[in-house]
Parts: sequence; C-alpha cells; structure tokens
Amino acid sequence: MKIGFIGFGEVASTISKKLLDNNVNVLSSINGRSDKTKKLAKNSGIDLVNSFEDVALSSDILISTVSPFEALEISKKYGVLTNGIFLDLNNISPKTTLEIFDFFKGINETKSSNFIKGSIIGKISSKNQIIYLSGENSNDLLLLKDYGLNIKVIGSNITDASYIKMIRSIYSKSLTAVTYEAFKISESFNMGDEFFEVLSITEGKDFEIQAKSRIKSLKNSHERKYEEMSEILKFLENIQSSNDFKDNNMIKATQNKFKEIK
Ligand SMILES: NC(=O)c1ccc[n+]([C@@H]2O[C@H](COP(=O)([O-])OP(=O)(O)OC[C@H]3O[C@@H](n4cnc5c(N)ncnc54)[C@H](OP(=O)(O)O)[C@@H]3O)[C@@H](O)[C@H]2O)c1
Repeated sequence: MKIGFIGFGEVASTISKKLLDNNVNVLSSINGRSDKTKKLAKNSGIDLVNSFEDVALSSDILISTVSPFEALEISKKYGVLTNGIFLDLNNISPKTTLEIFDFFKGINETKSSNFIKGSIIGKISSKNQIIYLSGENSNDLLLLKDYGLNIKVIGSNITDASYIKMIRSIYSKSLTAVTYEAFKISESFNMGDEFFEVLSITEGKDFEIQAKSRIKSLKNSHERKYEEMSEILKFLENIQSSNDFKDNNMIKATQNKFKEIK
C-alpha cells in the first residue's frame, strides 16, 4: 500500500514516522517547497517523487496536510487525480468541507464517496491526539489503526469531523478566555500564585499546567484565536434557524476577550 502526502510539515512528518515504522510505503514531493520542508522530507526517509501530480497518481491513500487556506485548491488540483481515497486533514470549516465535497460530487459519485474528512483533535505530536474521520467510505481507513494511527470514525456525513473540531474549539477557546480573565483578576489582588495553587488542589496538577500553558500561548495567538471565534460565529449565524441557541453568548464573550488582549 502506498500513502502519499501533499504538504510535508509537522503533521505529515509525524504521521509518516508511524507509517514507516509499520513498513508502509510513504511518498511525497518537495517540488517548489521551502528549505524547511525540503530538509524535513529528506530526513524522514520517505520516497520523494518529482511532482505532486505523481504523488496523487501513485497513492492508494492521498493525504492533504497543507494549510486551511490551501485546502480547497489542493483538493481541486491533486485530490481529484487520485484513484484511491483522498483524506483532508486540514483545519477547515464545515463550509469548506462541503465545498470540496460538492466539487467531487460534480465529477462523479465515486470521487465524492472516496473523499474523507479528518480532524486532528489535539496537537499531532501529543500522545493524546486522535483523528476523527467522516465520509461515506471512512470505514475503509480504519486499517490505519494497524499502522500506528489513533483513528475513530465519527459518522458518514462528510461534515461530521469538521463539526466536532469546531465544537471542541468553542469549548477549549472559551476555557482559555475564562482562565485568562480569572488569572488577570487574581493578579490584580496579588494572588496569581494562589490562583494556580487552588486550581491544582481542586482540578488537579495537569489542569494547573494546562491553565498556565493556555495563558502563555495567548500572547502570540490571541489575534488568530479572535479570527477563529469570528469564523465560528459567522458560520453558526448562517446555519441557525432563529430559535437555535440564538445568542451564542459564551462564544461572543470569548471573541471579545481575545480582542481586548494587548
Ligand atoms: N500541527 C498540528 O498539530 C495540527 C493539528 C490539527 C490540525 N492541523 C492541520 O494540519 C495541516 C498541516 O499542519 P502542519 O502543522 O503540518 O503545517 P506545517 O508544518 O506548516 O506544514 C505545511 C506543509 O504544507 C506545505 N504546503 C503549503 N502549501 C502547499 C502547496 N500549495 N502545495 C504543496 N505543499 C504545500 C508546506 O510547504 P512550505 O514549507 O514550502 O510552505 C509545508 O510543508 C494544517 O491545515 C493544520 O491546520 C495541524
């Protein structure tokens, strides 16, 4: 079996390592890519072919691990070429997932059935990560469990994996916002250390460590997180009927919190 990657960064290299350890043939291309990607791919021990077209044509399973903005274009350019399964692992919204699905459906039923959406829950490098899959033929990828990947099929609707990712994002980002706010208040009373101490006592040491990491990560990511909350709100407002969780208060408060961070 051959598994090909379009895009060879952190996700592709981490997954490749597991596949290679389990004797799977892994391929990609570095044609036109950055020095960082070239170095990573060359050091990984995968097969490198001349072009991404060749990767797509030779793979039984083609995996897109580029960036959210590139995902749609990559699907149209390379996903369409493969005769096997096309798995998108990018952080894309349910709307973009549907756009890709509709594009394949416009070509034929086989292409759309063989399109699978995957959402990586957690950092790919963490030991707790899991990849949720959705799409008509997603059970076909359960074999990847035998090659060291932590996989779960969540549903046959193509958007299911994108939805669960979005819901998790609502939860985890809101938790980050409320943790940050409580910490800032504790600091204003000179009780920053005590805040973490009580978190550790009531929620456990791991929670305290995570809380510190959430606050620290905000320094460089509050603008991106603000944009992500805006995207989520826009998406929910578009799909909701007037009676469904109309106000989205927690999401809006989280969005505002990220906006006010300097
Ligand atoms: N890292 C995680 O833990 C994680 C978790 C959940 C989801 N994700 C999602 O997984 C995807 C990949 O993430 P990553 O962390 O692996 O990103 P990354 O380290 O930045 O790697 C992205 C790779 O895609 C390549 N690329 C970008 N545009 C391309 C194009 N048009 N054609 C071919 N290759 C292209 C980049 O090459 P250059 O270096 O030449 O630009 C790079 O090799 C993203 O959509 C991300 O949202 C990542």
